[in-house]
Amino acid sequence: MCGIVGYKGKQQPKDFLLEGLKNLEYRGYDSSGIALKNDDEIQIIRSVGKISSLEEKVNNENLINCSMGIAHTRWATHGIPSEENAHPHRVGNVTLVHNGIIENASELKEELLKDNVIFNSETDTEVACAIINKYYEGNAVEAINKAIKVLKGSYAFCIFFEDSDKLYAVRKDSPLIIGYGEEEVYVASDIAAIISYTNKYSLIEENEIVEIGDRVTVTLDGNVVNKEVLTATISADSKDKCGYEHYMLKEIMEEPLVLEKTLKPYIDNLDKLPDLTEYEEIHIVACGSAMYAGMIGKTLIEENTNLRVTVEVASEYRYKKVIYDRKTLVILISQSGETADTIAAMRKAKMAGIETLAIVNVVGSTIARESGSQLFIEAGPEIAVATTKAYMLQVAMLSLLAYKAALSSGLVNDSVMNEIKIVPRMVREILDRRDDYLEIAKSIYDRDDIFFIGRKIDYAVSMEGSLKLKEVSYIHSEAYQAGELKHGTISLVDDGTPVISIITDKDIKEKTISNVQEVKARGAKCIIISNEEITGYDHLIQVPEMSDFFQPLVVVPCLQLIAYEVAKLRGCDIDKPKNLAKSVTVE
Ligand code: F6R
Repeated sequence: MCGIVGYKGKQQPKDFLLEGLKNLEYRGYDSSGIALKNDDEIQIIRSVGKISSLEEKVNNENLINCSMGIAHTRWATHGIPSEENAHPHRVGNVTLVHNGIIENASELKEELLKDNVIFNSETDTEVACAIINKYYEGNAVEAINKAIKVLKGSYAFCIFFEDSDKLYAVRKDSPLIIGYGEEEVYVASDIAAIISYTNKYSLIEENEIVEIGDRVTVTLDGNVVNKEVLTATISADSKDKCGYEHYMLKEIMEEPLVLEKTLKPYIDNLDKLPDLTEYEEIHIVACGSAMYAGMIGKTLIEENTNLRVTVEVASEYRYKKVIYDRKTLVILISQSGETADTIAAMRKAKMAGIETLAIVNVVGSTIARESGSQLFIEAGPEIAVATTKAYMLQVAMLSLLAYKAALSSGLVNDSVMNEIKIVPRMVREILDRRDDYLEIAKSIYDRDDIFFIGRKIDYAVSMEGSLKLKEVSYIHSEAYQAGELKHGTISLVDDGTPVISIITDKDIKEKTISNVQEVKARGAKCIIISNEEITGYDHLIQVPEMSDFFQPLVVVPCLQLIAYEVAKLRGCDIDKPKNLAKSVTVE
């Protein structure tokens, strides 16, 4: 989703700003822009499409001599992707970039129009800019403070004023950090933007106003706040593709390594994990792939304990009536820790006095900081928009939680523990079979519809397989409980329609095979992923047989690599699928 970088120092900011934007490309965007400022002039350059087209424009301009600038990648919310709607926006004295959504923009715009303010875009951002300008009478901090009392919604702003040589920043419900270099200060929505310049940074808290002149001053309601300087642990080279053609492939290939890192602290030591059996009910709340990881968690917990588990899409959970009449734990799952709906769901549970546990990747993110307790996955930075390794680790963490709960319930023995040690090796073996996935991809990549079927845990796994395929390859795909397809959707199955069946649950295997027969009889191309040898179909990927708890971990990489190979054969922009954003910081 949108990205922000800002610079104040001694250099011409152009190179930093463009590199910062490139580092944020992974978040997803459709237009971009930069604004430069010196004592006499403000120069704004904006462009639709890739950063490379902005870069070309910037390089063709006679740039002003300056040492301060702001830049932005926009993911359209209010108004189409266009040069007019791209940031930075300027109204009167104020030039700014914005992440988030101003929810009362249309009311405010009506008022501003009465004051004859002229708008050049359809954006809520330009309204925010006009509001700050309205309150500006020479004191920037005062104007920002007044404006944020009026603006509703979420925002991270990086701002400069025509008659001031200082840079300003403020945020609410959308992340922003300040980075410290040698006589240089950076502002960014994400540490990835600035990590090749500095690893020293501070987190900006809600409604703190940052003023960057010769020194950095942070105030909250007029009171000076001393910021802790943190050291980022991600390295600049985590942004390298390490020879892989795409980040998605690199990140899938990293799975054995990150699994090892994530699982290691818990091998022979489950004490560090919460015991879910202390609760009467578990709510797992998340969005997208993280929610699908939750579906696997639910199945594993319910099948192996007597606990009740619900999985809810965060955008629904935050608004629906939720009855908390039992001792409940709300588990939030989020790679970024910044997904707006998941944050809202977490806050709802907390407001109701309910315990929250976050499974999260990004240390220092909002969910990591605000949740009651945290389990960190060790995915490192995930650059491809479509999640792979982080999803894998979310599943692994839930498998551990389910296993511990099952042990506490006395429903399994501890021999399963030994399997944790071999999971990374098993996954590596699965990843090594690239030719098999390519062969399957070649047989399905030109189809319009692809179906995934499975029962119970296999259905839970297939949902993410389907999502991954559709988001990177743009092929319509759906996942079905194997027994459900015939209640309608089977009408779409005809000659050559690919149906990918996951069959690892032995108790229900025969039933799923009957459903495969049903689609085969209607001409489907049948691809089976199973932990047994099942013959008589078009393709079989045989995965190692594992305990229930860890079986999904050897199926997931097959689905991810099939999606990757299909997308590659179709020539898709694999790391940045159209319309998608990495960190969905708006509702
Ligand atoms: C799909 C994908 C998304 C995310 C979802 C939640 O590949 O990446 O569905 O899983 O937007 O994001 P996080 O985990 O950051 O809360």
